[in-house]
Amino acid sequence: MESHNETPKNSAPRNNVPGEVDEDIVDESKEALDVIGAMKQTIDDAIDKATEITTGGFSPANPTEERPTRTNKGKVIAITNQKGGVGKTTTSVNLAASIAATKRKVLLIDLDPQGNATMGSGVNKNTVASSSYDVLLGDLPIEDALIHLEEVNFSIVASNADLTAAEVELLKVSDHEKRLRSALEKVRYEFDYVLIDCPPSLNMLTVNALVAAQSVMIPMQCEYYALEGLSALMTTIESIRRSLNPHLQIEGLLRTMFDPRNNLSADVTEQLIKHFGDKMYRTVIPRNVRLAEAPSHGLPILYYDKGSRGAQAYLALAGEILRRDAVNTADTGTWAQR
Ligand SMILES: Nc1ncnc2c1ncn2[C@@H]1O[C@H](COP(=O)(O)OP(=O)(O)O)[C@@H](O)[C@H]1O
Ligand SMILES: [Mg+2]
Repeated sequence: MESHNETPKNSAPRNNVPGEVDEDIVDESKEALDVIGAMKQTIDDAIDKATEITTGGFSPANPTEERPTRTNKGKVIAITNQKGGVGKTTTSVNLAASIAATKRKVLLIDLDPQGNATMGSGVNKNTVASSSYDVLLGDLPIEDALIHLEEVNFSIVASNADLTAAEVELLKVSDHEKRLRSALEKVRYEFDYVLIDCPPSLNMLTVNALVAAQSVMIPMQCEYYALEGLSALMTTIESIRRSLNPHLQIEGLLRTMFDPRNNLSADVTEQLIKHFGDKMYRTVIPRNVRLAEAPSHGLPILYYDKGSRGAQAYLALAGEILRRDAVNTADTGTWAQR
């Protein structure tokens, strides 16, 4: 029978002579230090990951950029399609209101001289004291151009016809593609999401949005020529990636004014899934007259007719975006690789 008092086979008796070093204890201490070192590395990795998540893909690969000091996501999304009338402005205003309704802090930047997002958010474009023009070209600090809209609980940088001149004037100033990006660096971490409503062309204003953004959301109608327009947009995005904004991602493609009874809807959807896979939002925005009416009341659909199919669709889209960001924060794929 084995004695329980026996020293374990692989453990020599302890040497308790004062002043003498017990080599087993030294070995165990070294092992313990190794374990602590490994744990520290794991914690450091976790902190890095968490920082990346809370900064919405802010990349340590660009160390010259200021590190965020706040916990808001600060994710900048350019809502772009050079085609007019596809639902960019409708999406910008209603997505801003829908994300804000989930208690996230949202900033909407109107970068279209038509000022439709401004008017649709209830701000009179003709009487605003300052606009995105002043931020891009007048050296006005963006914080002085922010208007907080109590009723809809998001903030806006307004736009109006002043911005029409910006296209030409921007070409004369230094760093003209980076004006918006530099302006936003000061305030973006005060917000979870910054949405930019782009004009219907691939001009210098749109380039400013694409350089400032982490990702691009592309609203589109499911019609035959929609795909043709997309290739020009993808070429622009790719060239911005190669030059000024290597981390620019496709946020998602959004089908707007969707009519499931139209055969073309199914055909175009199939093509889009083939090219863009999971970059296509599952949520589709139906054609809904309430969405077209709301801007004339200066209200996002959520505050005009919450029960409408349009309002429900934009709430669903906000939910899909927030869920994707929670789950898919490590997404490093690009549209070109898919
Ligand atoms: N889902 C929709 N259902 C019905 N009308 C819509 C819908 N989305 C947009 N519209 C209307 O279509 C027109 C163009 O939309 P808009 O958002 O201004 O497009 P863009 O900003 O791309 O030019 C507007 O009159 C708008 O009210
Ligand atoms: Mg528009």
